[in-house]
Amino acid sequence: MIRPVLRMGDPRLLARARPVEMFDTPELHALVEDMRDTMAHLDGAGLAAPQIGVDLRVVIFGVHRNPRYPDAGEVPDTVLVNPRLSPLGLAMEEGWEGCLSVPGMRGLVARYRRLRYDGVDAAGQPIDRTVEGFHARVVQHECDHLDGILYPMRVRDLANFGFADVLFPGQPTLDE
Ligand code: NI
Repeated sequence: MIRPVLRMGDPRLLARARPVEMFDTPELHALVEDMRDTMAHLDGAGLAAPQIGVDLRVVIFGVHRNPRYPDAGEVPDTVLVNPRLSPLGLAMEEGWEGCLSVPGMRGLVARYRRLRYDGVDAAGQPIDRTVEGFHARVVQHECDHLDGILYPMRVRDLANFGFADVLFPGQPTLDE
């Protein structure tokens, strides 16, 4: 079921979400299905449970090679519950981000270039990956939502924050 996405300004987006304690339950699978439907409907790259008003540490993401987004790398469709991120090295990389909770806007954000992330999927099966670049960016963006952080809070210079159609005329960009 497609659910409404909360927009920046809603205090629920600023809360620290609770860990999931029971896996492979009908409730958790239903939540993930709603998140998938909602993300697909809005053509997003990722979605965190708090964005649909659910106070749980669940994110989904996935990006497939698309000629419309030549710079976006491939990211496998992933359901990540109770994630933990460990940056590998201090190298940061700047990149433009968007967010389904901040529709129509883009901002330049520095993220760790490489990181390891682990957690479990909806069935409770472990996930443990070492990633870099765009994949690492998407994971950091989504997991920030679980700690009540929206990407505009990480834009260092607000000169690099604005409307997508003004910043990148005629060019489609991904919302996360
Ligand atoms: Ni977002």
